[in-house]
Amino acid sequence: MRSYLVFALVGLTLTVASAARSPTDQEHFVGPSLSSTNPVTKTRTNKKRPLKGRFLHITDIHPDPNYKTGATFESGCHRKPKKDDKKGKGKLDENASDDDDEGDEVDANHIGNKEPVAGKWGSGISDCDTPMSLVNITFDWLKKEWANEVDFVIWTGDNARHDIDRTQPRTPREIFTLNRMVVSKMLDTFGADLPIVPSIGNNDIYPHNVLAAGPSHITEEFLQIWKRFIPSDAAHVFERGAYYSQEVIPDKLAVISLNTLFWYDSNTLVDGCGDHSNDPGALEMDWLEVQLANFRQRGMQVWMSGHVPPHMGHYYDNCYLRYGDLALRYQDTIVGHLFGHMNIDHFFFIDVDELEATSMSQPDPSLQNVTAPTGPRLRHGPELQGSGRYRIQGRSGAQSLQAELKKDFGEMPGPRILKLKDYAVMNVAPSVIPTYYPGIRIFTYNITGVSGDRLDEVLFYRGGEVPEDEDEDLEEQGEDDDKIEVTKKRKGGHRHSKPKDDCKLPQNEDKPHCTFKTKPRHYSRHSPSRSNRPLTPLGYSQFYLPTIDQQSSHPPQWEVEYTTFKAKSLVPPSPNHSNQTSLTQPLPVPLHLLPGYDPAIFTPPNDGEGKKARQKVAAKKKKFYKQLEKITPFRMNDLTIGNYIKLARMLVIEKKLWNKFSEIMWVSTRSVLP
Ligand SMILES: *[C@@H]1O[C@H](CO)[C@@H](O)[C@H](O)[C@H]1NC(C)=O
Ligand SMILES: *[C@@H]1O[C@H](CO)[C@@H](O)[C@H](O)[C@H]1NC(C)=O
Ligand SMILES: *[C@@H]1O[C@H](CO)[C@@H](O)[C@H](O)[C@H]1NC(C)=O
Ligand SMILES: *[C@@H]1O[C@H](CO)[C@@H](O)[C@H](O)[C@H]1NC(C)=O
Ligand SMILES: *[C@@H]1O[C@H](CO)[C@@H](O)[C@H](O)[C@H]1NC(C)=O
Ligand SMILES: *[C@@H]1O[C@H](CO)[C@@H](O)[C@H](O)[C@H]1NC(C)=O
Repeated sequence: MRSYLVFALVGLTLTVASAARSPTDQEHFVGPSLSSTNPVTKTRTNKKRPLKGRFLHITDIHPDPNYKTGATFESGCHRKPKKDDKKGKGKLDENASDDDDEGDEVDANHIGNKEPVAGKWGSGISDCDTPMSLVNITFDWLKKEWANEVDFVIWTGDNARHDIDRTQPRTPREIFTLNRMVVSKMLDTFGADLPIVPSIGNNDIYPHNVLAAGPSHITEEFLQIWKRFIPSDAAHVFERGAYYSQEVIPDKLAVISLNTLFWYDSNTLVDGCGDHSNDPGALEMDWLEVQLANFRQRGMQVWMSGHVPPHMGHYYDNCYLRYGDLALRYQDTIVGHLFGHMNIDHFFFIDVDELEATSMSQPDPSLQNVTAPTGPRLRHGPELQGSGRYRIQGRSGAQSLQAELKKDFGEMPGPRILKLKDYAVMNVAPSVIPTYYPGIRIFTYNITGVSGDRLDEVLFYRGGEVPEDEDEDLEEQGEDDDKIEVTKKRKGGHRHSKPKDDCKLPQNEDKPHCTFKTKPRHYSRHSPSRSNRPLTPLGYSQFYLPTIDQQSSHPPQWEVEYTTFKAKSLVPPSPNHSNQTSLTQPLPVPLHLLPGYDPAIFTPPNDGEGKKARQKVAAKKKKFYKQLEKITPFRMNDLTIGNYIKLARMLVIEKKLWNKFSEIMWVSTRSVLP
């Protein structure tokens, strides 16, 4: 079994540390608390603000200070085309001086209506990074609309430009400077009181992707850069591994910031998560298990967050297996898993059958073609040589990812066989960098009975107090039963056929049927990841910038792209609720941000109003609800595992829904057809 010695040591240290804490010590330890000598700390922990039941997930900002409006895409949006080439092909002029910006009249998005060039606010569907103008309007908007409307921020890495331009290579110093710049934007936007939980991306280090075990100058530097975010008692572990956790609602809800680079198989300086090893990836898994066990013991819930998603195409196999093992064994403690890196909006499952099918030696041949773009075959291909851009997470590998998801969703066991305890949902958010259109997510979670006050009495789910009722675990049937029956008859693909491997063999010890025998497994249909209760994720609303390519000096506006909610969850139950004081929690999206919103719709009718006025309001109302239909394709009750399974089934059955899902994978750019 796993390196128990190391595990025990880490576990012992942490357990002793937490056991030794007296209640009065908690002031130093809980919350987004920082060094207690830091004056900022006191304001952060002492100031209470009412919870809004929302948080922001933002990822892959990739600011590029060298971005130039009017530059060619081939130059990475760094150099303008030769003047005499304007109506030609817009070839890169490597020798062009950067000084001739002024008076250069290449100010349309196209040279002679042919080659696209860098736009003023960014370049949608390009390989260019994010101009400062886009960084600015993004944070300006977040400050105006969300700074007072969210409870915390999850921020999953990649805060430097890519290395796509050989003439302007990145330097470690530039990468740190850009990271500092984004930190100051975050603090300016959300203030020093709001918990912010950053995690490290594969482009936040030089060279990209490769990070050795700490302590190192990189972990030291990030400890400095993120000193306002990393709890002081987490500093030592952070120096070693660049991971930590933060209690965003003290004693109730924590966010674990994972360093996924130790698990990422493009990181050639580490060797996966081998048992009996001191690999930094294995030590991080040991740490993670201790974190989960401690949070669980305290009756808390946890969001997992990190840069590279736990996909078998990205992780070392044994890391993928161990992550999946923890995700399933702590299903009653983890409310969700949030990642970035891919730039593609999607979700996927980690489940027992798939973990069982993951072979340590040879990949499943039936999956080889579809996983190849995100798998090892292309990753070492020539297109990546000398390029910092991991192109396959961009547009070229996108279609295969789509095929893989369709296959996966289609092969899920039928509702009467599937056990929800065997599933975990991984959410991957789109990026700010306009690989497609820029996107950000606002999650909504249940705050019934939850206040920011750590002393309040809440009817929380507490792990272990509710019996783990396995026999009741079968998926609950909803209104979609009839349609779902169709898939039930389908024969599963790779998922069910394999005989169980011998647990005595070292290569099998991370397989679920082997670990589940020896390690506790915590799940319950009463946990927040399985049923709607305090801290359950209720949905998310995604905002995007579809007009990014406009050249006007007026900045493009962030808009709702879609939300997971039903239309009726987005509006007050009656006009009398329009001031929202009587709702159990704020609406997912402030009304004025919804398309077609008009305050008149939610103003109780005035007796004196004429027929004409009422008709006008009725027309506005009709239009508004039509718009709401458009942004609510999934109509989920909440983001519990069962509802994700239902969504996956519906996606396979309903072609229209699948087409919509495909479209939003590319942030509605329609750049890849389903
Ligand atoms: C850049 O200048 C060098 C000599 O200084 C020349 O050999 C090369 O052809 C030039 N490249 C371009 C694209 O003009
Ligand atoms: C972005 O905002 C900063 C101030 O926060 C300002 O100094 C900078 O000039 C702005 N850049 C652009 C391109 O708007
Ligand atoms: C994978 O691709 C190769 C060639 O591109 C093809 O010959 C093979 O049949 C494919 N395998 C599967 C399982 O689709
Ligand atoms: C939150 O959970 C409680 C159950 O504990 C439920 O009654 C309530 O409706 C939920 N709130 C929302 C907004 O779904
Ligand atoms: C809303 O308020 C009006 C008076 O302001 C009242 O007549 C009506 O019954 C109320 N509706 C509901 C659903 O409470
Ligand atoms: C909100 O509505 C409730 C009942 O409809 C009313 O009692 C309260 O005064 C309103 N609050 C505000 C700020 O308008």
